[in-house]
Parts: sequence; C-alpha cells; structure tokens
Amino acid sequence: MRPILALVLGGGILAQGITDAGATTAADSGLVGDPEAGKAKAGQCRTCHGLDGFARMPLAPHIGGEPEAYLRGQLTAFRDGARVHEMMTFVAAGLSDQDIADLGAWYAAHSATATLPASADGAAGPENCVACHGADGLGLAEDAPNLAGETTMYIDTQLKAFRSGKREHDIMSPIAAELSNDEIRALAQWYADIELQIAPPGE
Ligand code: HEC
Ligand code: HEC
Repeated sequence: MRPILALVLGGGILAQGITDAGATTAADSGLVGDPEAGKAKAGQCRTCHGLDGFARMPLAPHIGGEPEAYLRGQLTAFRDGARVHEMMTFVAAGLSDQDIADLGAWYAAHSATATLPASADGAAGPENCVACHGADGLGLAEDAPNLAGETTMYIDTQLKAFRSGKREHDIMSPIAAELSNDEIRALAQWYADIELQIAPPGE
C-alpha cells in the first residue's frame, strides 16, 4: 500500500489542477467499451478494488457487476471534479474517455449476487430505498448502484456526503438531507450485513 498512497497523496495537487480539462463526458460520449482492454487497464485498480471489482480495502467500494452507466458516470465525475476523493481524483485524472468506457465495460461484465443474512426479513428492507437499491442491495435502475456488502464506513460516508453537499445528486441529495445520523447508521448496517459475491464474465 505504501508506495501507492505516497503516489496518490503526492499527486493530489497536480490532479486537482487539471480536473477542469475534460469537457466531454465518457458517460455520454457514445464510445463503446471493450471489456478485454478494460481488464488490462484494471491492473491500476486492483490493489483497492480487485481485478474482479471485489474491494480489497474497507474504504473502497465493490464495483464488480455495477451498472455500466453508473461506473462511467462516477469515473467521469472524479476526473472532472464533480466528485472528489484524494485517491480516486488522482487515479481518474489519468483516464481518457476510452479508458473509462473500457474499465466500465470490464467491471460491469461481472455479475453480482447478494444473500441476505438468515436472520433478516427481506420484506423489512429500508422502505425509502428498496425501489431503487432493492432490499438485497442490488440496484434496480441503470443509474442506481449496488449497496450490498459495502462497508458501513463507506455507506455512512457517502450518505453524509450527499447530506452535506460534498457529493451531489438530484435524487440522493434530498433523500439524504432528511436522514439523521442514527438512521444513516441503521441503513448502512442493513446493506453492509448482506453477503455479496462477484463472478467474472462468463461464469
Ligand atoms: C488507492 C486505492 C484506489 C485505487 C488504485 C482505485 N480506487 Fe476507485 N475508489 C477508491 C476509494 C477509496 C473509493 C471511494 C471514494 C469515495 O469515498 O468517494 C473509490 C471509488 C470508486 C468508484 C465509485 C464507486 C461507487 O460505488 O460509487 C469507482 C467507479 C472506482 N473507484 C473505480 C476505480 C477504477 C476503475 C480504478 C482503476 C482505474 C480505481 N477505482 C482505482 C480507491 C481506489
Ligand atoms: C429513486 C431512486 C433512489 C432511491 C429511492 C434511493 N436511492 Fe440511493 N442512489 C440512487 C442513485 C441514482 C444513486 C447514484 C448517485 C450518483 O450517481 O451519484 C444512488 C446512490 C446511493 C449511494 C452511493 C453508493 C455508492 O456506491 O457510492 C448510497 C449509499 C445510497 N444511494 C443509499 C440510499 C439509501 C440508504 C436510500 C434510502 C434511504 C436510497 N439510497 C434511496 C437512487 C436512489
């Protein structure tokens, strides 16, 4: 981890200086992603997200089997400065639209399955969330991410970022604005308790 972190932190200022550069977004660039090319490029992601998109560190989310449009949208947001994180802003600054399309295609080609803990009642999923994220934490819309098996820390951080305005989204910002810290903790726990499995393409 140490060399990567040093690289990331050392490059933070440089990365921030150039985030305004990208005018077109890969999300709507119309480029077609090539999963095999994405697999080769995912070498730079594996320390944190794994080659299969199953996160290897608690701060990083699972991304294997996420909707392609969502992955492209987030990578573009990190690159262009709409979403900010010291590690991802640095990583994304070096990605072209084609890189983003290829990486999105690779990770989206995986399939995610989710298993509720035996003690959980699927019908008791968080009622304000299930329409888009499912009771089992698998996203039900093209732009809605999976939450299954993400760490409580990750979910908590993202909901608070939407609530504070650090991260913005026309659906999630107003939803998070209504949540108390206790509610955020309970919602994060529901989704973190779900077991996520990610299978590579073709399996
Ligand atoms: C040094 C560790 C690290 C590396 C390397 C890294 N990431 Fe990340 N990634 C993170 C962290 C941490 C987050 C969570 C950021 C936040 O809290 O907003 C993240 C978030 C993301 C997200 C948003 C997921 C979501 O559910 O919203 C995507 C997509 C992503 N990374 C893709 C990639 C890709 C593709 C690469 C390789 C090109 C990569 N990352 C390399 C640490 C890393
Ligand atoms: C109407 C659909 C909808 C509902 C209802 C909804 N979400 Fe979301 N959620 C989304 C979308 C779309 C995104 C992607 C936001 C973006 O692109 O930045 C998202 C993103 C998130 C994220 C960030 C995940 C990540 O990987 O970074 C979390 C956490 C989240 N939602 C939790 C919740 C919780 C908890 C609830 C219920 C209180 C909820 N959402 C209700 C649509 C919804």
